[in-house]
Amino acid sequence: MSKQQEVDFLIIGSGIAGLTYALKVADHGTVAIITKADEDESNTKYAQGGIAAVLVPSDSFEKHIADTLIAGDGECDEKIVRIVVTEGSERVRELIEWGTDFDRKPDGNYDLAREGGHSEHRILHHKDVTGLEIETTLLEQIHAHKNITMHTHYFAVDVITQHHLGVEVKRGMEGIECYGAYVLNLQTKEIETILARTTLMATGGAGHVYKTTTNPKIATGDGVAMVYRAKGNVANMEYIQFHPTALYNPGEHPCFLISEAVRGFGGILKNEDGEEFMHLYDERKSLAPRDIVARAIDNEMKKRGEESMFLDCHDCDKDAFINHFPNIYKKCLSIGIDTATKMIPVVPACHYMCGGIHVDENGCSSIANLYAVGECASTGLHGANRLASNSLLEALVFAHRAAKHSVDNLSSRTFNSTVPNWNAEGTTQPNEMILITENLNELQNVMSNYVGIVRSNQRLKRAMDRLRIIYGETEALYGRTVLSQKLCELRNLINVAYIIVKAAMVNPENKGLHYNLDNILS
Ligand code: FAD
Ligand code: SIN
Repeated sequence: MSKQQEVDFLIIGSGIAGLTYALKVADHGTVAIITKADEDESNTKYAQGGIAAVLVPSDSFEKHIADTLIAGDGECDEKIVRIVVTEGSERVRELIEWGTDFDRKPDGNYDLAREGGHSEHRILHHKDVTGLEIETTLLEQIHAHKNITMHTHYFAVDVITQHHLGVEVKRGMEGIECYGAYVLNLQTKEIETILARTTLMATGGAGHVYKTTTNPKIATGDGVAMVYRAKGNVANMEYIQFHPTALYNPGEHPCFLISEAVRGFGGILKNEDGEEFMHLYDERKSLAPRDIVARAIDNEMKKRGEESMFLDCHDCDKDAFINHFPNIYKKCLSIGIDTATKMIPVVPACHYMCGGIHVDENGCSSIANLYAVGECASTGLHGANRLASNSLLEALVFAHRAAKHSVDNLSSRTFNSTVPNWNAEGTTQPNEMILITENLNELQNVMSNYVGIVRSNQRLKRAMDRLRIIYGETEALYGRTVLSQKLCELRNLINVAYIIVKAAMVNPENKGLHYNLDNILS
């Protein structure tokens, strides 16, 4: 890539959101996808359970809509829920036409699984590696399109706005515009300028803001932080989803996920003594929505002083289990657990960011020419808690909508040729990497200890006080050193942590994933 280039569509991120959008705009202009690791590295690649969609007559849009609204605990935007559920089936059929292979039963019908919070079997899956199947299929389509260029190991540092032209940009100001992005070429270490008529943020989640997460290491909240720094709007950031059943395997980071579909298949949550406990918390027991199950496990662990709870799969048919969950079975076996005879130790782990960059029904952010789709966006679908397997669906539906809106508006958008190249004057090579690693550890400890599944006013205040110190130190380092991926990611994680804590501090209600002890007491 040359130091400055122009593309019609700039896409930051190569998970389901970025790739689907790329395929849909590529017939209308030049497309550059930049992605900070290998092209397939993404949360998408690790999705296990599958994708929820209404495809059979025994199910209905109304049932899926109701399940989504119940999980979201009164905080979903019903209009958006209706859009995603009703348009979702068509988008899933498109994914199948592109070549995605979802499992079928011997009679030829799709083998639909069930997960927590769903009233029906409606999860399409490919064994327990659904995300890998989707990511591989999309990448095959991407490689076949002549208008799309994939730039791997390119790290987006900031979106370009009037701020970079010397104009003061303030939060809440009307008319902020995006002209593209500054990106760090991780091979040459140079910062390049990509000018774009339309930019899509598809950078995924922020699991690494916590010490324990199911997310791969790319999930550092870069998109949310970039948009927040550019004074764009973000929403719902206090709603961080902890998956109840990550494999408890001390020292493994990120955590391996034990899909919720295992509980849909008959796995039952128990304590170390083999006693069930979920009936004490919810009549849906092991299949209650995630916020309830995660809090129940957290509570049982604290009450009993134990490091994990367990998933008992003894009663599942062994061959059928291995057939549906080959990857999970193999992983458990690799650490000495045969799921047919031993219970799987599980703990909650940070899994999904329900909030993000605030967008409208076409994926438009509050900044002109800038869209956001996928986990980095807050559409209103998930409310206070995401229903299992709704996020892949949301990414497909919003990629389609954002692509249509982008193409329809392309002719009115021009390149801004007055954008200057990145100015690295006065910075020197970092010789204190320890400052970055220590601040990252501290940040993750603060967030895990004070802003986890159960919060309190005192914990949140303590977190904010600590964050201010880490923020000050990191900004000082950022100002004087040559940019590196690690430093930028730390800075982004601090930004995201700050937004989460601030949102949690001002939310007086316990809804879904936000649970503050002082809200109950006051
Ligand atoms: P991602 O797939 O995470 O892609 C983000 C992309 O952005 C990556 O390519 C990344 O490298 C790139 N990127 C990030 N920052 C930068 C930067 N600064 N510069 C350049 N590139 C950048 N959801 C379901 O619906 N069903 C499931 O079964 C399911 N299972 C899951 C299992 C696991 C273990 C995990 C972690 C998540 C699961 N989810 C599931 C959630 C779902 O996978 C994600 O929400 C979804 O895949 C997000 O897609 P995305 O395209 O928005 O982001
Ligand atoms: C899982 O398989 O449990 C993950 C599903 C999801 O996050 O939607």
